Amino acid sequence: MELRVNKLLEKRILNSKVNIKNAIVMAPMTTFAGNADGTVSKEELSYYKVRSKGVGMVITATTYVSPSGKGFKGQFSACDDSFLPGLKKLAETIKGEGALAILQMFHGGRMARPDEIPSGQTISASAVAPVRPGSMIPKEMTETEIEDTIKAFGNTARLAIKAGFDGVEIHGANTYLLQQFLSPHSNRREDNWGGSVEKRMNFPMAVIEEVKKVAKEKAGENFIVGYRFSPEEVENPGITLEDTLSFIDVLSNKGLSYLHVSILDFWQGSMRDKTNTKPIITKILDKINGRVPFIGVGSIHTPEEAIKVLESGAQFIALGREIIMEPDWVSKVEMGKVSEIRTTLSKSDKDSLEIPEPLWNVIINTPGWFPITE
Ligand SMILES: Cc1cc2nc3c(=O)[nH]c(=O)nc-3n(C[C@H](O)[C@H](O)[C@H](O)COP(=O)(O)O)c2cc1C
Repeated sequence: MELRVNKLLEKRILNSKVNIKNAIVMAPMTTFAGNADGTVSKEELSYYKVRSKGVGMVITATTYVSPSGKGFKGQFSACDDSFLPGLKKLAETIKGEGALAILQMFHGGRMARPDEIPSGQTISASAVAPVRPGSMIPKEMTETEIEDTIKAFGNTARLAIKAGFDGVEIHGANTYLLQQFLSPHSNRREDNWGGSVEKRMNFPMAVIEEVKKVAKEKAGENFIVGYRFSPEEVENPGITLEDTLSFIDVLSNKGLSYLHVSILDFWQGSMRDKTNTKPIITKILDKINGRVPFIGVGSIHTPEEAIKVLESGAQFIALGREIIMEPDWVSKVEMGKVSEIRTTLSKSDKDSLEIPEPLWNVIINTPGWFPITE
């Protein structure tokens, strides 16, 4: 076991020269615990501090790039310079414990919360409501709104650089705006931003170009720019695995620092074709074919499970729920205390694990999400 575990603990390199001390990444997770004015809260800093010790890289909760994109109550903002002091503290907290700090950024699009955005009216690629009871029909974005939003992603990258982050992750997954442009469900446009799968890629590609341009100008080659995607949608029409394979074929040549999948179980079969139970990840990794480092994620709890994911071809392992339940995951692996790794959450753990109250409430009120013991 010890030798095999070394695979998880070995140093990695991104962008040819940025050192990462091991393969373990804290997955981006919304805390719902930012201050009401959009600044990072003390509770969030404490939550990150205990989880930044040990892991190679921390990807923060997703922040929003413009006010119209706010997706959650208690989401922290990176829309303008006024948010810099809190963002700086967040970067310092993570880096102070020895991990790389990556700011995840998004625009919620039609999944933004109407009661949390200034106009109360959501926007998206097209005026098609999400398939969810009570959802608002978004307003179709104008050309100017599209251009402004692309710029907003660049601006948030600039703020991340100023705040001292080592990189940004462009959140193109989990049904938010970038995915909404890729999706034939939410994108019915017939201009340059919609139509064929190639045209539906244009918005995410423009965001990547803008962010990379800002990174190059303001930070240089070491700044990390990653991209997260969801492989499929259940809606009809919706993103198919074939769409995604075309997309990641292009993404793999974009000079990104890494690609990061978003799935609930690393080994899951197709969400659209239930008869196909073969892991879709195999096709994704075959398509990438080593062109860009890959972060695997999804129901990975034990070192054995993490090693299996590395052996399948991923270079990094992101732990989400597991790192909430066990902030000391890496140090327990390092010290050979694998049997002491917690894989459940006890209701008495909230304070010792530094889980902010709003996050804790969402966790305990969502049955089946976390393995909770009394
Ligand atoms: C509380 C919570 C909040 C999340 N928020 C985000 C987020 O802000 N951005 C994102 O890309 N994924 C988010 N996710 C998804 C996780 O990054 C991860 O992909 C998912 O939980 C599966 O990994 P796991 O099985 O290790 O938890 C969130 C997950 C959880 C549990």
